[in-house]
Amino acid sequence: MASEPVNVSEFEALAKKALPKMYFDFYAGGAEDEYTLKDNEEAYQRITIRPRVLVDVSRIDTSTSILGYPISSPIMVAPSALHQLANPEGELATARASAASNTIMILSFSSSYNVEEVAASCDAVRFFQLYRAERSGYKAIVLTVDCPRLGRREADIRNRMIVPKLKNVEGFVSNDVDAGGGSNLEAYANSTFDPTLSWKDVAWLKSITSLPILLKGILTHEDALKAVEVGAAGVIVSNHGARQLDYSPATITVVEEVVRAVKGKIPVIVDGGVRRGTDVFKALALGAQAVLVGRPIIYGLAAKGEQGVKQVIQMLKDEFELTMALAGCTSLKDITRSHVRTDRDRF
Ligand code: FNR
Repeated sequence: MASEPVNVSEFEALAKKALPKMYFDFYAGGAEDEYTLKDNEEAYQRITIRPRVLVDVSRIDTSTSILGYPISSPIMVAPSALHQLANPEGELATARASAASNTIMILSFSSSYNVEEVAASCDAVRFFQLYRAERSGYKAIVLTVDCPRLGRREADIRNRMIVPKLKNVEGFVSNDVDAGGGSNLEAYANSTFDPTLSWKDVAWLKSITSLPILLKGILTHEDALKAVEVGAAGVIVSNHGARQLDYSPATITVVEEVVRAVKGKIPVIVDGGVRRGTDVFKALALGAQAVLVGRPIIYGLAAKGEQGVKQVIQMLKDEFELTMALAGCTSLKDITRSHVRTDRDRF
């Protein structure tokens, strides 16, 4: 029997074993040279932690809240497509695991189960990507703004990645999309992504929903300011897990820029490359309120279903709690900018 994973990254190898190559590569891959894919993780490794000692850390509180919804730690589940390729229970299992972990799951527009089915599977706080969410009790809309077209993911092109007919694919009837002998992902994207999406559409979306709108895919202070102006309830600093624009910056390197621009008016969340509790700590020290985790969740699901997702979230949370203790922080408000050193800092 394979040994039990002791950290989140070890789930990747288990997922690789469990999945057909085409699906593993779809989940794991990034755009073009995958420069940003590597940098998302490596940029965290360039940041060091400045611990404070002789603090009573016998009690650590990792809890926080996002848009007023309490969560057990600042670790949330990123929206990612097609969980049914990883496990037949797909997003239902991910949603149940998120609920059991007392955290928020953002359901992808390209979910294999529809919004109502996922809503019925558990009573977790859920955020979704579109309007029907409101009726099914989702608490926020997450508008992905970095996807006017599909990024060029060469593994999928090479593997001729075809999404099989799944139980129920929201907006993705793969068999209807002519693959032309190659991957059907681009044809799918062309049929569902909207290259005309612009700032005025955010204002329109805001006018038709009472739910808060988070913009996912902000990487510059210019766009962060616009997000505040247009009335976004929050921004997610994200490069889509490096699957869209290669050579976009590693997300952790632009968190401060975005945080400074929004001046505390709306929460800043970051995703991309979070693999350790220390990464969560670093993101918070740089001003993020929470992080989203993408691939590790899918790998947990592929390796061990619902239980695997729970384990991934728990591992990150345990590591984060330990990091807080070793850095001398007992609650999230204790984590400050002076707890980290980036390569731009001079002391
Ligand atoms: C994604 N991501 C994504 N984002 C989004 O807004 N809607 C989506 O449908 C998807 N689908 C998707 C599929 C897969 C397989 C991956 C890996 C990612 C991006 C996701 O929300 C998140 O930004 C990244 O996954 C975060 O990076 P890490 O944690 O995977 O490094």
